[in-house]
Amino acid sequence: MALNIALTKGRLEISSLDLFEKAGFNCSFRNNKGRKLIFKDLDNDISYFLVKANDAITYVEHGVADLAVVGKDSLLESSSNYYELLDLNIGKCKFILAGLKDNNIFSNSGHIKIATKYPKVAKGYFKTKNMDVEIIKIEGSVEIAPLIGLCNGIVDIMETGTTLKENGLIVLDEILNISARLIANRASFNLKQKEIVNFLERISSIC
Ligand code: PRP
Repeated sequence: MALNIALTKGRLEISSLDLFEKAGFNCSFRNNKGRKLIFKDLDNDISYFLVKANDAITYVEHGVADLAVVGKDSLLESSSNYYELLDLNIGKCKFILAGLKDNNIFSNSGHIKIATKYPKVAKGYFKTKNMDVEIIKIEGSVEIAPLIGLCNGIVDIMETGTTLKENGLIVLDEILNISARLIANRASFNLKQKEIVNFLERISSIC
């Protein structure tokens, strides 16, 4: 049976396809993909969908994708209605708390505001610190929020640290190391067990 695999567009797409190629899958479509969003590896009967991380989870939960490659950051914010099969050891980064040098997050007894794309993770982190803070959900480019006065700090992911540095922010605390995971639709895992296990074995042998 054919496998449908959702890939997270962007940085993770490149490292996912590098990994799949290393495992011997035919990803030659990547050389000439233009703006297309669906690709086929006819040799292995696999279709790839290029989508945003949260949508990759939705496609898996609804069973139109059997598998997906998604960052643990997005998985931690989701409802977990899937199987997490494998740590792919790609897309490695960490959750951090960051702010301006003269921030007052831990010293201030007043109202603290934190902007983030990851409200669940941020809430969980401040709970462990026994701190009651206001979490403000932002969709992207979160580093700008403390610079223009929206918040005292941000909870975000950091890979190279360049975005923080170029915006004059510093890491105040490291929260959690994360990486990309292979997830599976629960029904597909039974119905297409042979194909999924075969895929899993080829990938896990190199990651
Ligand atoms: C992520 C993250 C940071 C940046 C960190 O954003 O939210 O902004 O990458 O990477 P760095 O440490 O290598 O600089 P992304 O590029 O996904 O864009 P977004 O902010 O629009 O979501």
